[in-house]
Amino acid sequence: MKAVIEELEKRRANARLGGGEKRIEAQHNRGKLTARERIDLLLDDGSFEEFDMFIEHRCVEFGMEKTKISGDGVVTGWGTINGRIVYLFAKDFTVFGGSLSETHARKITKIQDMALKNRAPIIGLFDAGGARIQEGVDALGGYGEVFQRNVLSSGVIPQISVIMGPCAGGDVYSPAMTDFIFMVRDTSYMFVTGPDVVKTVTNETVTAEELGGAKVHTSKSSVADRAYDNDVEALLQIRRMMDFLPSNNTDGVPVLPTMDSAERIEQSLDTLVPDNPNTPYNMHELIAKIVDEGDFFEIQDAFAKNILTGFARMEGHTVGIIANQPMVLAGVLDSDASRKAARFVRFCDCFEIPILTLVDVPGFLPGTAQEYGGLIKHGAKLLFAYAEATVPKVTVITRKAYGGAYDVMSSKHIRGDVNYAWPSAEIAVMGAKGAVEIIYRSELGDPEKIAGRIKDYETRFANPFVAAERGYIDEVILPRTTRKRVCRAFNMLRHKTLENPWKKHDNIPL
Ligand code: HXC
Repeated sequence: MKAVIEELEKRRANARLGGGEKRIEAQHNRGKLTARERIDLLLDDGSFEEFDMFIEHRCVEFGMEKTKISGDGVVTGWGTINGRIVYLFAKDFTVFGGSLSETHARKITKIQDMALKNRAPIIGLFDAGGARIQEGVDALGGYGEVFQRNVLSSGVIPQISVIMGPCAGGDVYSPAMTDFIFMVRDTSYMFVTGPDVVKTVTNETVTAEELGGAKVHTSKSSVADRAYDNDVEALLQIRRMMDFLPSNNTDGVPVLPTMDSAERIEQSLDTLVPDNPNTPYNMHELIAKIVDEGDFFEIQDAFAKNILTGFARMEGHTVGIIANQPMVLAGVLDSDASRKAARFVRFCDCFEIPILTLVDVPGFLPGTAQEYGGLIKHGAKLLFAYAEATVPKVTVITRKAYGGAYDVMSSKHIRGDVNYAWPSAEIAVMGAKGAVEIIYRSELGDPEKIAGRIKDYETRFANPFVAAERGYIDEVILPRTTRKRVCRAFNMLRHKTLENPWKKHDNIPL
């Protein structure tokens, strides 16, 4: 027995070395951790249960039969994050650049199948160059199998991708079909094909950073949801995020104990909105002051900053927050903001996460740039997402709710459950000046008359009371009581049951 145990230990030690000491050193020199070091940081101490440590590829092309490495470039298994089960796979760049072979794919699909069957989240740590070139169609087929499972799992279990090295081909397409993508600054890249292929095909000279670095994907393309400075920070933040997420689409949100009283009154909110309706204020401040312990996990913090999206807790229960940000473009809804928020609303609805919407929006952004870019369709995405959502929806209008954007931002008319407004709310088709210039066009030559008309319009419409008179606003609340009122509303909605008519699936304007 001793001999076989020793043999096992030897094989294990060998497998743990992946591509060998030299390649591990190269990985460290690039500022990256190895697959196993990453898993150690991501999971609770000692909780990792590894599968398929001894798998080898079966390729005999290009002399590959002479290079077999136990594990074949990916470490797979399951473990816990703060006590809750997650499945994971971590690409090992030290083995054939983490590229995916037929057997490597089988390791991943085994984990995907287990995660789906057992209804727990799956996390992929990517550091890999896509399909293993030497394997040809076997590798492509392997990726097809992974993609299919990404799609079947979508909306059933959370799927999280962390990009931690140069990633190409299938190693970006599979993440693209998951719920969230996180990147590491300066060491991770995402592209369909790398700079060398770009040069060959388009004769364009571009660096990996310019083509698909964290900055590009978090602020320009919006492919990635957040970026972190290094592997350690990224993995610790993923742990933090997982605490907000339900394990699947039926378990409901996790509930964490909190010392923050639901009855907490926040006096400073009474003066958050400036007297001048055109002066911005920071919506982050409102979020921080009403959620449990001010803890807000923002999603897409560097993209379309005119709208904020992220997770927080109210009385220990996770909520998704969507909030216009008056500090950026006055909080206007444009194509990017609409797409960003729509995807977030849909994530929350898939996984039964209640939605809190904080509204201060002057409308949709006019102009040719937006219209040519498809604002109508992108805006419709957000409208569609809110209107189809059946989770509890609580809305607070702090200031402007103008035009179509009033309807879109979780209004009563699209099944907002509890809709509050602050006394500073202005609910109207548009701002007073714009409105008067249209309906009193003939008087435009008389500035005094126009000023009077503007004043009249403001008195009549720049308040929440017309909407409240009609029941479109359930109650005008004191800003300082917002946390209390919102907590109570979500509590009241805890067992909300609402079903959309049966359909195969809807046809959201993509
Ligand atoms: C086999 C690969 C590989 C691959 C990298 N390697 N990618 N081996 N198949 N796809 C190997 C390299 O040969 C090298 O081996 C080691 O991994 C490290 O790679 P380097 O190139 O030295 O590293 P780096 O300079 O950091 O560049 C990383 C990279 C680049 C950007 C990922 O390697 C690259 O562009 N690879 C090819 C990407 C690609 O086009 N993949 C196919 C995509 S098609 P040695 O032994 O020298 O250390 C695809 C289909 C899916 O995925 C379908 C999508 C819809």
